[in-house]
Amino acid sequence: MRSALAITATATAALFSSALSAPVMDELWRRASNSVTSDVNYAASKSYTHVIVGCGLGGLTTAVRLSEDPKNTVLCLEAGGDSRTDDRVVSMTQYGKAFGTELDWGWATTPQPAAGGNTKTIRGGKTLGGSTAINNGAWGRGDAAQYDGLSQLGNDGWSWSDIESYMKKSEDWNAPQGWQKDAGAQGDSSAHGTGGPVTVSFTPDMYKGPHQKAYVKALNNALGVPEVSDLAAGNVSGVVSYSQNSMQPTGNQIRVSSATAYLSPVEKIRPNLVVLLNWRGVKMNMASSNNGKHKAASVVAQSTKSGPQRTFKASKGVIVSAGAIRTPLFLEASGIGNADVLKKIGVQQQIDLPGVGKGLIEQTMNSIGSKQGHYDPSGKGPSNIIAFPNIYQVMSNATEVRSWIESNMDSWAQAQVNAGSAVNKAGLLKQYELTVKLIFDDKVGIVELFGDHGYPQSGMGVDLWQMMPFSRGSVHSTDASGFSHPQLNPGYFTNPVDMALTVAGLRAARKTLKDSAIRDGLGETESLPGFSVIPDNDQQGDFAKWQNFVLKGNGGNGFSSVHHPIATASMMSRELGGVVDPNFKVYDTENVWIVDASVLPTQMTAHLSASLYGLAEKAAATIRKA
Ligand SMILES: Cc1cc2nc3c(=O)[nH]c(=O)nc-3n(C[C@H](O)[C@H](O)[C@H](O)COP(=O)(O)OP(=O)(O)OC[C@H]3O[C@@H](n4cnc5c(N)ncnc54)[C@H](O)[C@@H]3O)c2cc1C
Ligand SMILES: *[C@@H]1O[C@H](CO)[C@@H](O)[C@H](O)[C@H]1NC(C)=O
Ligand SMILES: *[C@@H]1O[C@H](CO)[C@@H](O)[C@H](O)[C@H]1NC(C)=O
Repeated sequence: MRSALAITATATAALFSSALSAPVMDELWRRASNSVTSDVNYAASKSYTHVIVGCGLGGLTTAVRLSEDPKNTVLCLEAGGDSRTDDRVVSMTQYGKAFGTELDWGWATTPQPAAGGNTKTIRGGKTLGGSTAINNGAWGRGDAAQYDGLSQLGNDGWSWSDIESYMKKSEDWNAPQGWQKDAGAQGDSSAHGTGGPVTVSFTPDMYKGPHQKAYVKALNNALGVPEVSDLAAGNVSGVVSYSQNSMQPTGNQIRVSSATAYLSPVEKIRPNLVVLLNWRGVKMNMASSNNGKHKAASVVAQSTKSGPQRTFKASKGVIVSAGAIRTPLFLEASGIGNADVLKKIGVQQQIDLPGVGKGLIEQTMNSIGSKQGHYDPSGKGPSNIIAFPNIYQVMSNATEVRSWIESNMDSWAQAQVNAGSAVNKAGLLKQYELTVKLIFDDKVGIVELFGDHGYPQSGMGVDLWQMMPFSRGSVHSTDASGFSHPQLNPGYFTNPVDMALTVAGLRAARKTLKDSAIRDGLGETESLPGFSVIPDNDQQGDFAKWQNFVLKGNGGNGFSSVHHPIATASMMSRELGGVVDPNFKVYDTENVWIVDASVLPTQMTAHLSASLYGLAEKAAATIRKA
């Protein structure tokens, strides 16, 4: 039934034509009934209303929603291939196996002064589904105040209540089963959607060992962090003993990506959707329109650096969804961006938008842990105890820290502008003011203490990162080919607040592992870095020693990236350095929208995907009405 709906005239004719050989008939049948192809000639045989660049989280959500309207014909271009049946992707038990392979862009940063001149790697999925095909599936939303804050940056109509329904629309939530509830899993059904594409559940082989409850208890004892029932309800300060994941509720921890969630159910029944694999968008051809704005006419695509180019016209517009690292590169190759950068890569400027590629925010992670001890984890899968303490729970001098930030942020903002990481001081100051309000007034969780079973030592570990960095960075093209390595400078620890919060978080993590609730049951205490490396004291260790651990600890490697880059084409007012308006449209264009993590101007206290699915749903609804 399903595939019959999708048979096109060509394929029907072919089926009845005895002149065509069996392989050709098979191929025609396959093409007619399947949106996903690597055949550029097939893709070029159709005409499109919308061309989407990048088929990851933002791109596929938008492609599938736009093509629900039969008047739209959508082409999605994906630089990578289809990994939906790849062993490294299918089960979350394989997390990490895709890293460093052809499924991972694995961008090297510029040498980072904070890391003694070493480079770091930021990972991103180079495959259908984008980073949702290689991520860890942790599911939660930011704090309501963080979405409300978007309006303070010049985005009319942005608030928690505005985006909540779109986040729910993307979701098919499964409440914990009886045995999972018995183990301690909780959820607030009113915070979730059902019937949407993205299946969310508690891991089917959920850990039932004592470490889960002990971790929650220790956080409560050591830091006063309360247990909350759900991290998706818009109140993110607390700890959940079992977090939810984007995965199937049964089977061997089956991943749910934007490809399996949005594309798979419709790929055989959507003749007006084509997903072209292994072809990337290189640039848009821009024309001026009668109202003085710029109009994208088509997208130039290429499969290999030396291969031929093909041009796909887009009658209604172009959606850029190449992710926070590559979206700015595509805009720059199209003549949209900062004059100096465009001059360097030899592209004539179409639109002067200095915010393209600036304002990058990326988080840093360090882990501490203890040896195996007595705990039997009694289960498997992604570790799933997530805590977000607020500033008052990790710093006893929060009031002094607030004054320190407020009296320095003007010069800090200027320093980021001077480093090429922010367009102007006013824009970054607005972000800093918002962040200060979120941290100190709204008491939004400021560090993540991700309770990790068996990592970085064999027992109980804590992966620590600060949620709302003050450091900014940049990413720009080094040539206009679409194939070059970007100049990627995340500017890690270029603002001292980030180190202050990271050390406060690590001290809080140490205090948690030291608490009797964990120590007594496990029979072990911290072995990385351990008390010989950083002797304990009434502040949980000396600041300079912790700082050294952050930058050079753990065998000299120091911190790693969290792989949650955002804000390289921010949704903000143009005066503040924004690139898109509150309707996702690139300033000065009539028909170019950006739908991916690049538009999020400031960080969420969450792993990003649940927020980004909501953002993409909102974008698709907006673009359908345009
Ligand atoms: C290792 C890792 C772990 C993570 N863990 C979690 C987690 O546990 N929970 C969570 O919620 N989030 C997690 N995330 C974050 C989350 O997956 C991303 O924030 C999200 O997928 C970003 O969505 P996006 O649409 O911006 O980009 P992506 O989903 O990355 O999609 C971008 C797509 O564009 C393609 N592309 C790039 N350039 C071009 C071009 N020129 N032409 C055509 N195609 C192009 C890419 O190949 C990719 O498919 C993780 C991310 C990583 C990398
Ligand atoms: C958020 O949760 C915490 C902990 O349960 C509670 O103290 C606080 O009042 C809640 N805040 C809001 C805005 O609901
Ligand atoms: C706050 O306390 C920490 C920990 O003792 C200390 O390192 C830091 O300098 C203090 N910050 C301010 C601004 O007082």
